[in-house]
Amino acid sequence: PARPLVDRFGRVHTDLRVSLTDRCDLRCRYCMPAEGLPWLPRAELLTDAEVLRVVGVAVRDLGVRSVRLTGGEPALRRGLVDLVRGLATLRPRPALAMTTNGTALARLAGPLAEAGLDRVNVSLDTLRPERFLRLTRRDRLPDVLSGLRAASAAGLTPVKVNVVVWRGFNDDEIVPLAEFCVEHGYQVRFLEQMPLDAQREWSADGVVTGAEVLDRLATRWSLTPVPGRGAAPAETFLLDGVRSPDGAPAVVGVVAPVSRPFCRSCDRLRLTADGQIRACLFATRETDLRTPLRDGASDAELAERWRTAVAGKEAGHRVAQPDFEQPARPMSAIGG
Ligand code: GTP
Ligand code: 5AD
Ligand code: SF4
Repeated sequence: PARPLVDRFGRVHTDLRVSLTDRCDLRCRYCMPAEGLPWLPRAELLTDAEVLRVVGVAVRDLGVRSVRLTGGEPALRRGLVDLVRGLATLRPRPALAMTTNGTALARLAGPLAEAGLDRVNVSLDTLRPERFLRLTRRDRLPDVLSGLRAASAAGLTPVKVNVVVWRGFNDDEIVPLAEFCVEHGYQVRFLEQMPLDAQREWSADGVVTGAEVLDRLATRWSLTPVPGRGAAPAETFLLDGVRSPDGAPAVVGVVAPVSRPFCRSCDRLRLTADGQIRACLFATRETDLRTPLRDGASDAELAERWRTAVAGKEAGHRVAQPDFEQPARPMSAIGG
């Protein structure tokens, strides 16, 4: 039977985010420079067999129940569908989700659903093609929109849409994006921008707080908080009297790690594409899993590495505090 991963603060870690690649086919300005980044060498990436082994230990011996595939852009990982199929055969079977920019979903949503993926969260910061091009430096808005439709049609639901709100850039689209998502039955979440960009240009001035987002939404709808958030980063709200196309009440969310940190209920662990355990998104230290994995460690030894990593987890992030130190890895190499 699994022995859960409990840290010094009593937090139980049941959610694992696995980055499959640090590469991306977009170049969002708040994330990375136009030329991209020095990508991880292929030999350093965990293979599919290694990912399956590690996640297998996590679900069997450590009580992990949900696994989210991230990137970079996880859809760029070759053989993704087969990897998902493998993850879905693990026992106890974890819930399987993916966070993606959506550019490949028109092609992959069906096969991924068939392979066992349960749902997707899709990043989309604007509905205006020329603004999408300016923000992501790629003209791919139509692909993302068709990807979203494909995800719904394939049953990768609830489809959630992540909007990083950036002051002066897309904050005028909060209501239009919410309207669009409600109409299509997507659950929109507005995210506060965190200091994890490769260029280190993040500024608190650019952050539109969750409270501000709610004020804007309240100009259009009346909102009722949904209780029982648990460890979820998103606070969610019902739009009174509004229904999605499937008849369910419409829900919107805000993710406010900067203005309202949720570290006290954190249940997350992360694995980078090169096999390093990160106990926190903002951790400045990592625990190397790849070396023992490749040196022939037993399952029990791998499980022990996870316990060591969790034992060293800090109470929470220190964003916006004077002693804040941005982690060496950018968002694209952690997976968000
Ligand atoms: P759901 O299970 O659908 O609620 O997914 P999620 O919101 O946990 O994951 P997603 O990848 O969609 O991330 C949405 C936003 O929450 C992104 O900005 C993530 O970086 C952020 N996020 C997710 N987990 C954490 C966390 O543990 N700490 C912090 N600070 N931010 C997080
Ligand atoms: N702060 C908050 N969210 C971010 N994302 C990317 N960069 C940031 C940031 N600096 C979003 C992505 C994706 C999710 C994993 O995090 O758009 O939806
Ligand atoms: Fe957990 Fe770290 Fe995120 Fe806080 S910042 S919720 S401790 S991963």
